[in-house]
Amino acid sequence: MPNVFGSLHKGTEPRHEQVVFCQDEASGLRAIIAVYSTALGPALGGTRFYPYGSEEEALADVLNLSRGMAYKNALAGLDLGGGKAVIIGDPATDKSEALLRAYGRFVQSLNGRYYTACDVGTFSEDMDVVARESRFVTGRTVAHGGAGDSSILTAFGTYQGMRAAAEHVWGSPSLRGRRVGVEGVGKVGHRLVEHLREDGAEVVVCDVNESAVERLRARHPEIDVVADQDAMVHADLDVYAPCALGGSLNDDTVPALTAKIVCGAANNQLAHTGIEKQLADRGVLYAPDYVVNAGGVIQVADEIDGFDFDRAKARATGIFDTTKKIFELAADEGVPPAVAADRLAERRMSDIGRLRGILL
Ligand SMILES: NC(=O)c1ccc[n+]([C@@H]2O[C@H](COP(=O)([O-])OP(=O)(O)OC[C@H]3O[C@@H](n4cnc5c(N)ncnc54)[C@H](O)[C@@H]3O)[C@@H](O)[C@H]2O)c1
Repeated sequence: MPNVFGSLHKGTEPRHEQVVFCQDEASGLRAIIAVYSTALGPALGGTRFYPYGSEEEALADVLNLSRGMAYKNALAGLDLGGGKAVIIGDPATDKSEALLRAYGRFVQSLNGRYYTACDVGTFSEDMDVVARESRFVTGRTVAHGGAGDSSILTAFGTYQGMRAAAEHVWGSPSLRGRRVGVEGVGKVGHRLVEHLREDGAEVVVCDVNESAVERLRARHPEIDVVADQDAMVHADLDVYAPCALGGSLNDDTVPALTAKIVCGAANNQLAHTGIEKQLADRGVLYAPDYVVNAGGVIQVADEIDGFDFDRAKARATGIFDTTKKIFELAADEGVPPAVAADRLAERRMSDIGRLRGILL
């Protein structure tokens, strides 16, 4: 049995408000919903369906991910707190209508304290099923009134963050003539490449999936391809954009980087605490991942008021200003941008969350 309350109270940061364990034996549902904070509003975060090796592993993941969502939503300017859910199991074999609907009933039972969405192992079609049992579901298909594929605004927002970084380093937001390395050309990465090419950047890519690279090269034969991450970080780059898995910035890659800017969509790019300082010491400007990849959550959050793509896109454009603000705060306070981002998010949660104290 994991030490649940102990896990919730680790460190000095504010603690999770609520953690719900959900079980429906007949459908095989075993899920954990973690609400980190509702200071800014209902907690929003996706549902990860993953074959965790143990309940402890699932709990640790959901606690970590829900905290991350609170920070991301705060800096995205949303009136939403942070939460996340995990379903323990293999989505390829364990996912069923009954399981998803059982999960939906648990989401509904929180009566709007938690809104769910897609994450690793869950898709918009799954959210349509969950939504048959709960009103508190985003990331549904367009046919069901949903925001659809969130990678559209994730890529757009990441591009806005990169423009802000370019302006900070080179005095102009344009990426024309800059050499940008995009690691991972999946749903987000290939869309980011489109924005970059439109802006006139030179692009070099790598992906473990050859067909993803081939699809991109069919549209853009001018794009350079390198073998893998190692070749990418050693390549002559102005910007490095991790858009694959987490942990791209680590003790091996950071010393090798030639790029002046790191700005990509991947979650959890910093492999461990201290990497943000290594980047700063090497003169590499790091645009914090959860700030620049917030376009996706902005897109699905918009669904709560009835989805309007133009409104969501206008909000995602604001990632440019937020990223700039973080670089300025980092310079003023003499800290790496990752630390400045956390401070700004905490300030918004505290300043705006405090207003709930005014009784209505
Ligand atoms: N889709 C969204 O809206 C969204 C929102 C926020 C953050 N993100 C993050 O952005 C990243 C990409 O998401 P996605 O939706 O494009 O996923 P995806 O699975 O469509 O694309 C990821 C790509 O990275 C490739 N890849 C995996 N390992 C690699 C490696 N070692 N080297 C090079 N390429 C590798 C995969 O083959 C795939 O093509 C993820 O970290 C995700 O968590 C996505």
